[in-house]
Amino acid sequence: MTQPNSPEEKSTTIAGNLYDYPSYYDVIFGADWRREIELLKFCFEQHTELEVKQLFEPACGTGRLLIQLAKLDFEVTGLDLNPRAVKYCNQRFKRAGRTEAAVCGDMTDFSLSDLTLQKPMQAAFNPINSIRHLLSEDQMQSHWQCMAEVIELGGLYIVGLHLSPEVGTPCDAESWTASRGQLTVCSHLQTTDLDLTERIERVAMSYDVTTPGQKLRIDGELIFRTYSLEQFTQSFENSANWKLCAVYDFTYDTSQQISLTEASEDVIFVLQRT
Ligand SMILES: C[S@@+](CC[C@H](N)C(=O)[O-])C[C@H]1O[C@@H](n2cnc3c(N)ncnc32)[C@H](O)[C@@H]1O
Repeated sequence: MTQPNSPEEKSTTIAGNLYDYPSYYDVIFGADWRREIELLKFCFEQHTELEVKQLFEPACGTGRLLIQLAKLDFEVTGLDLNPRAVKYCNQRFKRAGRTEAAVCGDMTDFSLSDLTLQKPMQAAFNPINSIRHLLSEDQMQSHWQCMAEVIELGGLYIVGLHLSPEVGTPCDAESWTASRGQLTVCSHLQTTDLDLTERIERVAMSYDVTTPGQKLRIDGELIFRTYSLEQFTQSFENSANWKLCAVYDFTYDTSQQISLTEASEDVIFVLQRT
């Protein structure tokens, strides 16, 4: 659908999978990585006895964090289901004069050899809700198992997700804007359906993309599994490969861990491979 907006500006709206637009994703999610990286580095130093050199990010997307960690001399590997995100990530590594870091694959079904690695790594991370794209407990158990194969005993898996609190009113809408050069992306998120019995949250997400002379709106939907604190804890405990060793939240404040309660919402679980 194309509508005249002003004589020199065209406006278009399309429906699509937002992960198919990695350059817009990277503008909107790629701006504010410093505190995430600081928290990851802090965890690597504080919560494992291993010397952390090799890192893995399942559902790595555009590699917005992987590239920053590579610049800090970590050896990084990523995996993502979306070939466009993987291509974007690898092109970013090539532009930086580095070898490609990401492979295409499903985070419920991969092995060390799929990652072209011979030995397990010391740490992995999975920030901002990607784990919630796995919609069943079977998928989650496969994921915990795959992760256990690629992370050394004593190593870490740092997982950030929004829990659905059992008390209080959850935040169900968010908008923010970010720019890179002449490209501006405004993102809107709105929960349209939250079914805590079926454990499904549907989120309408759109990007309003502005470049000189052009406006584009992309409307998409993200589907997430819901977790209470107890449900998430049970999931990693049932896998028998992971135990909780620390908890932070999305303020990325390393000065103190948070206390988990029924009202906890944005949680970063630091799990240790047992
Ligand atoms: C919110 S993005 C996060 C990307 C990246 N971790 C970051 O922090 O910017 C979620 C990513 O999960 C990926 N994804 C969804 N389901 C997946 C699966 N089963 N296996 C691997 N990647 C998956 C999507 O393609 C998308 O790139």
